[in-house]
Amino acid sequence: MQWSLLLTLALTAQDASAGPANGLMARQFAQAAMMRFQCSQLVYDRIDPLVQPGLLPSTHMHQIVGGNSFNATMTSVTYDPAEKSTCTTCDYAEDLSNYWTANLYFRAKNGTYKRVPQMVNLGLQGREGVTVYYIPPYDGKSKVTAFPKGFRMLVGDAGLRTKEGQQKQLCHRCFANKKQDPFGGAPCTGDDTYDLPKKQCGGGIRTTITFPTCWDGKNLDSPNHKEHVAYPTSGSFESGGPCPSTHPVKLPQLMYEVMWDTTVFNDNSLWPTDGSQPFVYSMGDGTGYGQHGDYVFGWKDGVLQKALDARCSGNACKTLKTQTSTVSTKCAKAQSVHEDAEGWLTELPGAPAVTFG
Ligand SMILES: *[C@@H]1O[C@H](CO)[C@@H](O)[C@H](O)[C@H]1NC(C)=O
Ligand SMILES: *[C@@H]1O[C@H](CO)[C@@H](O)[C@H](O)[C@H]1NC(C)=O
Repeated sequence: MQWSLLLTLALTAQDASAGPANGLMARQFAQAAMMRFQCSQLVYDRIDPLVQPGLLPSTHMHQIVGGNSFNATMTSVTYDPAEKSTCTTCDYAEDLSNYWTANLYFRAKNGTYKRVPQMVNLGLQGREGVTVYYIPPYDGKSKVTAFPKGFRMLVGDAGLRTKEGQQKQLCHRCFANKKQDPFGGAPCTGDDTYDLPKKQCGGGIRTTITFPTCWDGKNLDSPNHKEHVAYPTSGSFESGGPCPSTHPVKLPQLMYEVMWDTTVFNDNSLWPTDGSQPFVYSMGDGTGYGQHGDYVFGWKDGVLQKALDARCSGNACKTLKTQTSTVSTKCAKAQSVHEDAEGWLTELPGAPAVTFG
C-alpha cells in the first residue's frame, strides 16, 4: 500500500526519539492491515439520533458522514441505514453507516465564531469529512466479529471539560507543518494531548476518536450507548489485551480521524494573548475534553465481516465495491435544522455555554 509505505517512512524518524513502547506500537500501527477510507461530509446539522433522538434541534452542531438516511429519529435498534440509505459519502459503496462528531470553531477576539475548515487526509480524496478506520488485531491473524445490523455506540462525553472521567484514546495532535507528516506514530502517543493544543499548529490539528473493542455479544445498543461495549481488561487492543468476561466478543477497532485546518487562523494578531487557545468545539467546549464520536452501523449484510477476514487494507480492497470521490461527494442530504452555520457567527449554533481550558 502506498500509504502504509509513506507511513513507515514517516515513522522512522519518530522511532528514534520515542520510547521503546511508543516505537514498537508505532511500527505495528504502520504495518497492520487496516481499512482506512474517506467519508466526505454528508451534512452539518443540529440533530443527534443517538443521544437526543427526535430532538429538532439538538443542543449542538455535528458534522455527519455516511449514508443519506441519517435523520433525527433512527429508532434503536430497528433502523437500518443499509436498507434506508440510497447512497453514501464513503469510499466503500456498501458502507451506509453513519459516523458523526462535533465540529470545531475559531473564536475571534470580538467574540464571533467561524467554523474551522478541514483537510483531506493523506492519500485520500473528497472534501471535508472524516477518515474512518476499521482495524483488525495487530497480530495479523486472529479474527474479530464485525458489528451486527442494528449496532450503535458512542465514545466520549460531550459534557466533559476536565480530563477526569475521560474514556481512552480521544486525542489531539498538533502538526508542526503541512508536509503531511501526520502519520508519525499511533494515535495518543508522542506529544498527543487529550485537550486542545495550546499553541499554533503549523500543520493543523488532528483529532482521533477510538472506540472500545469488546462487546457483550447480546445488546446492539444500551441506554447510555456505552455499556454494551468495553475496553480490554489489561493492555490494549493494540497489544492484544483480553476482553472482560462480561464483554467477551472481540470487535474490530473503529477509529475516526478528523483533520482540522486551523492554519488559516494562525495569525498572532488574531490569537488570545493570555496563553489560552481560541478553538472551541460545537458544544461550547474550548478545552477539548468533550470531544466524542457516534456510530450507527449500516454496512450491507456480511460485507464488513468479509472485508475484515480478508484483512482489507486502505480504501481499495478488491473484495469490496468502491466509489470515486466524484460519486461519493454527490451523496448529500439537506439540513433538518436550517440555520446559518457559516461566516462569522455571533454565537455558536444553539448558543451553548462556552468554556475554555
Ligand atoms: C425523518 O424524521 C422525520 C421526523 O423527524 C420523519 O418525518 C421522516 O419521515 C424521517 N425520514 C426518514 C427517511 O426516515
Ligand atoms: C470579528 O473578528 C473577525 C476576525 O478578526 C473579523 O473578520 C470580523 O469582521 C469581526 N466582526 C465584527 C462584527 O467586528
